[in-house]
Amino acid sequence: MNYTDLGLVNTQKMFDNAIKHGYAIPAFNVYNMETISAVMTAANYCHSPLIIAISESALKYMGGDMLIGMIKSYKLNPGQNIALHLDHGSSVDACIHAIKLGFSSVMIDCSKLPFDENVENTKRVLDFAKKYDVSTESEIGILFGTEDENTNSVLSEFTDPEIAQQFVNATNTDSLAIAIGTSHGVYKPQTENGKLRFDILADIQGRLPDTPLVLHGASTVPQHLVKAINKFGGDITQSNGIDAKQLSIAATQTNICKINMDTDLRLSFTAGVRQYLSEHPADMNPRTYLSTGRDAVCNNCLYAIREIMHSDDKI
Ligand code: G3H
Ligand code: 13P
Ligand code: ZN
Repeated sequence: MNYTDLGLVNTQKMFDNAIKHGYAIPAFNVYNMETISAVMTAANYCHSPLIIAISESALKYMGGDMLIGMIKSYKLNPGQNIALHLDHGSSVDACIHAIKLGFSSVMIDCSKLPFDENVENTKRVLDFAKKYDVSTESEIGILFGTEDENTNSVLSEFTDPEIAQQFVNATNTDSLAIAIGTSHGVYKPQTENGKLRFDILADIQGRLPDTPLVLHGASTVPQHLVKAINKFGGDITQSNGIDAKQLSIAATQTNICKINMDTDLRLSFTAGVRQYLSEHPADMNPRTYLSTGRDAVCNNCLYAIREIMHSDDKI
């Protein structure tokens, strides 16, 4: 299946427009019918471009045919500006598999491998992706936290601007994920003063003015969601997310043109379902409580699109 048959687009024009007009494309992680419906509804309602991000574990959970079947059911057209993206592809084969399934964008994440291996794998993915006009994302630097269910990264390394420049020169990657103080998951270690390293970002951007940059690990961990989860039987230890104002600056004033969020959607879903079940103890109909989860994710995405990404009314 080619992504154009699904009415999807790659990320090239999306990123050009995002940089030119000062906003970021939301990349929301999804893993089932409810979360796909939630992010689609939010993007559609706000007239926002959208990157539907699928991790390898999410793809395994849904199955490729199920995922593509769901995307197909929306009868999308390219004017809607929706990309289907493999998040944190761990191998060349994983990226090739996704491209053949109908993905329009893939991330090859070899950031934990030695520089030369990262370059080599990225080039192999790029060669294959180019034949299908699929966009590629790579990463330099290591984010603290969980990048997938299999690798639990304990190291954190800000992106070295010089290495980022060497990497882009060697690979010509379409976009580059950088580490400037964000981190994956609900427990986010903070930088010294709690701020993103805009100084590192400025250096990278100065060296690579034409490379679209990507922020992973950008969830804000809304405190009202953590409180709601704990009030209704959960046990999430207090933690702080990334400051929404800083993300908003990154989205509007820099070459960051894609911002990834997964944790905030998970928190929304979980809070919604927990509250509903707690308040309706006799209800055992998954359609009702899953709808509550879906609506909570949608509301979270509406907020992120408007207040963080500023991608509303851009299509
Ligand atoms: O950045 C990674 C995402 O949060 C994916 O997590 O592998 O549990 O779907 P997952
Ligand atoms: P969060 O865990 O901060 O939502 O980051 C998600 C992410 O980067 C997916 O690639
Ligand atoms: Zn990520």
